[in-house]
Amino acid sequence: TKNSVFKNEPFTDFLLEENKQAMQAALVKVKKELGQTYPLTIGKDKISTEEVIVSTNPGKVDEVIGRVSRGTKAYAEQAMQEALAAFQLWKNVPPAERADYLFKAAELMRERKYEFSAMLVYEVGKKWAEADADTTEAIDFMEFYAREMIRLSETNQHQPLTPVEGETTEMTYIPLGVGVVISPFNFPLAIMAGTTVAGIVSGNAVILKPADSAPVIAAKFVQLMEEVGLPSGVLNFIPGDGIEVGEYLVEHPQTRFISFTGSREVGCRIYERASKVQSGQIWLKRVIAEMGGKDGVVVDETADLDAAAQAIVASAFGFQGQKCSAGSRAIVVESVYEEIAQKVTALTKELAVGLPEDNPSMGPVIDQKAYEKVLAYIEIGKEEGKLIAGGAKAPGNGYYIEPTVFKDVDSKARIMQEEIFGPVLALTKAANWEEAIEIYNETDYGLTGAFFSENEERIQRALATMHCGNLYINKKCTGALVGVHPFGGFNMSGTDSKAGGYDYLLLFTQGKMTARKQ
Ligand code: SER
Repeated sequence: TKNSVFKNEPFTDFLLEENKQAMQAALVKVKKELGQTYPLTIGKDKISTEEVIVSTNPGKVDEVIGRVSRGTKAYAEQAMQEALAAFQLWKNVPPAERADYLFKAAELMRERKYEFSAMLVYEVGKKWAEADADTTEAIDFMEFYAREMIRLSETNQHQPLTPVEGETTEMTYIPLGVGVVISPFNFPLAIMAGTTVAGIVSGNAVILKPADSAPVIAAKFVQLMEEVGLPSGVLNFIPGDGIEVGEYLVEHPQTRFISFTGSREVGCRIYERASKVQSGQIWLKRVIAEMGGKDGVVVDETADLDAAAQAIVASAFGFQGQKCSAGSRAIVVESVYEEIAQKVTALTKELAVGLPEDNPSMGPVIDQKAYEKVLAYIEIGKEEGKLIAGGAKAPGNGYYIEPTVFKDVDSKARIMQEEIFGPVLALTKAANWEEAIEIYNETDYGLTGAFFSENEERIQRALATMHCGNLYINKKCTGALVGVHPFGGFNMSGTDSKAGGYDYLLLFTQGKMTARKQ
């Protein structure tokens, strides 16, 4: 594959009996493996700690997914020392050789895609297609960044230099050092693997601290990287507390970069802590942060209303709304507002909430804290708007919540402004399409947006004025594809580091220019 151009891994069609059976078989197989213990990986050492993180199924809370060793400050320091030592060797491994580890890992993950997806179904409560999209994206990131590193390492490919007589000039992109990757629960395979391998293939050594609620899938990925022979110390795995482990590493004078994906609150805190130059530190740390969103779908009166309503519902409720790209707002022009509200309500009521392994339309939210937070926002919504769908807990032995829609919500209302990260959608009315775009832009965030219209002039205005990193016309605002839709947002959504894009590896490297007199 490595000599071919990058192509996205196709999604699995679960309507095909063969694929459906393969998924069911993987669910049975992975179920037998639940409850195992997973060690820390520090250099070549596997360390089992007495205290563990117990990962449970959010859709069946008595089911233990795995027990994962818990890092401490002392282990974090040990991981830093191992990473520093490994970096000295790894940085000299030729880029194409580094890329090979990713190609091999992608191939293995492709062979085992159903098993990875099954683990995602159990550990974070994804329905099959959402789990499959997560696994597929992880494969894409490995294939894409491997090729990107090769391209970046080819002389003057990335940035052609202006030739001058009597000199040979060259730009090379060399690694930074040791990076800390702090990854989220919502794409616990794709984003975890993508941010990790971007650092690694660029020649850095990485210390990975995965989300507390999804450490097992991360441990599986670390095993995969070992299987393909990645030298020890290049990837260190240390789940643990955000403050004890995460912040210790963020503040460490020898940390060179931090790649964080998660909440605005934590992202801002990391940015602040990382900015302080510690004693003995000889660089300014680089922070790559992907944070939240309050994304929205705008619909005007010329739009295909069925397509718009479908996109609103898909954007709002995919993986229970737990995506930074989730369209938690819909801003609709007055003359078609009631019709959209009705269509959205009807589509939402068709969504069945249930146990993810049975592949319902929707599963649970991730944990007790999220459950309580989302339910509290639903109560706030009842004050701020008119409930037209859902609005309550859903039955089951887990954190199930009905997909919930409010209409007539003021553009300044809390549920129009604050990221809920759950299945809650707010509809608001705009006098006309221009006002709708203004309302769309009234947010601290700027990650994704969608504009539905059949009018070319308006589409042009939307393209120019909707302020977000990923803007979609006449399609939903979730589901960015690696290489196709480089992904990252403005303002409080993060550093606009475009994951899955040509610029991404520049964030993990530094450009070295050399000029040689002839
Ligand atoms: N990349 C995902 C999407 O576009 C979100 O992280 O939905």
